[in-house]
Amino acid sequence: MDNLILVGFSCSGKTTLGRNVARRLRLSFVDTDHFIEEMTGRTIPDIFREDGEAAFRAAEREALDRILQQRHQVVSTGGGAFVDPDNRQRLRDGNLVIHLQVRPETVVDRLRNSRSGRPRPLLDSPDPLNRVVQLMADRREAYSAAHVTIGVDDRTRYELVGELRRRWLSWQRAHRGRPAQAAPLRR
Ligand code: S3P
Repeated sequence: MDNLILVGFSCSGKTTLGRNVARRLRLSFVDTDHFIEEMTGRTIPDIFREDGEAAFRAAEREALDRILQQRHQVVSTGGGAFVDPDNRQRLRDGNLVIHLQVRPETVVDRLRNSRSGRPRPLLDSPDPLNRVVQLMADRREAYSAAHVTIGVDDRTRYELVGELRRRWLSWQRAHRGRPAQAAPLRR
């Protein structure tokens, strides 16, 4: 309850923007993939390689169960987490879900230029653009169940963090009847 949840495709900026907006709002920050790695003691690519996607999705559901027991967090979810109908319902229930929408070309550019080099097993393909376009089309309907969609292409991190912060504060006012304690604007 009372969490700001970021959903969307790989490389839409969920982790970076989530961490930044959490700092601005003085909320705690959780990344579901990171949580799964801590919970299982294994990396995401190892889980996919050794046990397959179904095992990863089971770990993801368990991680969400545990994470959603806490309040007032910014939660960045893995790109497939919001596709599962049960996860979708639990994430929407009493939380603000924001979809970060990104163009397939941007995803492929970011995958190529990623400094962290974090492997995405589902995007490992000889034709990454085609793979991204297909997977995005499969997920379009699921992502459209977010409360708010924000396009991230051609916008600075500063603008996006500002918009996420504003959306959260107005959601808090509308749904909870009390303003959240926000950090002062730093420029
Ligand atoms: C996945 C996205 C990844 C990670 C896993 C599966 C997906 O997270 O959860 O590799 O199904 O799209 P990011 O969205 O952070 O890349």
